[in-house]
Amino acid sequence: MTAQTEPFLRPWRAGDAESVLEAFRAPDMAHQGPPMLDPSAATRWIADHRWAASPSEFSFAIDIAGIAVGNVAVRDLESRHQTGWVSYWVAESARGRGLASRAVATVCAWLFLQGETFRLELGHRANNPASGAVAARAGFSVEGLQRQKLRYGTERFDVVACSRLATDPPPAVELLRIVDLP
Ligand SMILES: CC(C)(COP(=O)(O)OP(=O)(O)OC[C@H]1O[C@@H](n2cnc3c(N)ncnc32)[C@H](O)[C@@H]1OP(=O)(O)O)[C@@H](O)C(=O)NCCC(=O)NCCS
Repeated sequence: MTAQTEPFLRPWRAGDAESVLEAFRAPDMAHQGPPMLDPSAATRWIADHRWAASPSEFSFAIDIAGIAVGNVAVRDLESRHQTGWVSYWVAESARGRGLASRAVATVCAWLFLQGETFRLELGHRANNPASGAVAARAGFSVEGLQRQKLRYGTERFDVVACSRLATDPPPAVELLRIVDLP
């Protein structure tokens, strides 16, 4: 990849609405947020994920050449136990090249560097091996199986619970640059 197309992380921008709409067209994005049926839903999604929308969450767009192709979010950041919850998605067109793993590892490193987070958690459906591979590559360890935790429609799903601690060894993935933070 040339320097120009090297992916990086940045805050979400109002101008990303079309990219969000496009990303949510993938069938496996159905449970990653509210129904994304029109541009106004994408605009609302971006407003909800704007930088510092809340003191307990941060969302980063994964940017390639000016186009937002993915999201890594940390929410439920909590100071007493120093924990937070990580989630992620990548647009279909940008999958399979390690972007999610690099982006998740980068956000973890960024948070640990601030010194106020010790434990990050995530959960993925047991039938989502790609997400499990991302978690493992980003340095998360499996803690167990949460039986039938999620209900989508009439179906229930087991969830694999994972965590990464500030003291865990950092994963061997190349981190991304983070730009344009206020
Ligand atoms: C899961 C998701 C984020 C992966 O994004 P990505 O940028 O393609 O991820 P990466 O390229 O960093 O890594 C994908 C890993 O999954 C593996 N993978 C992909 N499809 C797979 C499958 N069907 N079975 C097993 N592993 C699979 C790849 O081999 C790769 O692992 P490797 O690097 O060890 O070979 C993306 O598919 C997505 O957004 N899915 C829909 C939303 C979602 O499921 N989000 C997670 C919710 S918990």
